[in-house]
Amino acid sequence: MQTKLTELLNIKHPIIMAPMFLVSNVAMVKEAMNSGIAGCIPALNYRTLEELRAAIKELKASKPEGGAFGFNLIVNKSNPKAKAQLDVLCEEGCDFILTSLGNPKETIEHAHKVGIKVFCDITDLRFAQKVESLGADAVVAVNNEAGGHRGNISPEELISTLKNNLNIPVISAGGVGCKADIDKMLSYGAVGVSVGSPFIASVEAGVTEEYKQACVDYGAEDIVMTERISGTPCTVINTPYVKKIGTKATWIENLLNKNKKLKKWVKMIRFSIGMKATEKAAKKATYKTVWVAGPSIEHTKEILPVKDIIANLV
Ligand SMILES: Cc1cc2nc3c(=O)[nH]c(=O)nc-3n(C[C@H](O)[C@H](O)[C@H](O)COP(=O)(O)O)c2cc1C
Repeated sequence: MQTKLTELLNIKHPIIMAPMFLVSNVAMVKEAMNSGIAGCIPALNYRTLEELRAAIKELKASKPEGGAFGFNLIVNKSNPKAKAQLDVLCEEGCDFILTSLGNPKETIEHAHKVGIKVFCDITDLRFAQKVESLGADAVVAVNNEAGGHRGNISPEELISTLKNNLNIPVISAGGVGCKADIDKMLSYGAVGVSVGSPFIASVEAGVTEEYKQACVDYGAEDIVMTERISGTPCTVINTPYVKKIGTKATWIENLLNKNKKLKKWVKMIRFSIGMKATEKAAKKATYKTVWVAGPSIEHTKEILPVKDIIANLV
């Protein structure tokens, strides 16, 4: 199928395998490219710049015709490595960068100089217009059905509002678990979809079998929003552990958050503790099961190789 997204990235199907913190890896993206879609990895999945550089080199060496790869860059203050990661991406080269959480101006300027396309995560029209004015090549519209830090607007409303008010293409993120979902997003006016949660239960994903199996066993009605990970609401599977600790910030965090001077530090500490807890849950066997996933795991019925998940989607 040809759309503006397949044209932009020279891929066969209008699908991006979405970047997922701790989950995405080179093996998944290689399989995505071999199946004719694009794959994206959070730059933060690499602890060092050398590891990031090695991943880019490996993907470049194995990129087939009809596949594409990119990296997700968190561009706000929570990522002190953003500038250095951008330099590595621009030095080594990739097909696209997907920015999230901050002002993408510097990323767009640098990436465009070396021919890298820049897509920006947005959740509303105001920010979408801002990134368009900065020169973004497309927006990734994160709706209220997405996994992770989701948006607040339904896919239909978000895509049609953006389509009517922007000149750049709209890629839809959130709530896609089967082919009918893709057709729906395209019918609203999206040029393609960015799909995350359905790939957690893939053979190649870099997380524990327990996390993958949970995506098989639980469904859309088991997804809840929690403030207990990063401070910003995030979708997780409502495991017995999540039920036990609750989904609201603690009273002490709320109290500290009211203090203007302490607020920034509380946020940073909460973020760091939350990330460590999710990393443990994703990578090691533990009873503290805080597993990030979105309602699109509804369609996940078994752990499959990435290529089979893509075959089912297209
Ligand atoms: C486990 C998990 C981790 C994620 N990590 C990131 C991330 O590091 N950066 C980012 O921009 N989006 C992240 N996302 C959001 C995805 O890139 C994508 O927007 C989302 O998965 C789309 O919704 P879906 O899960 O219904 O497909 C994450 C989502 C999940 C489920």
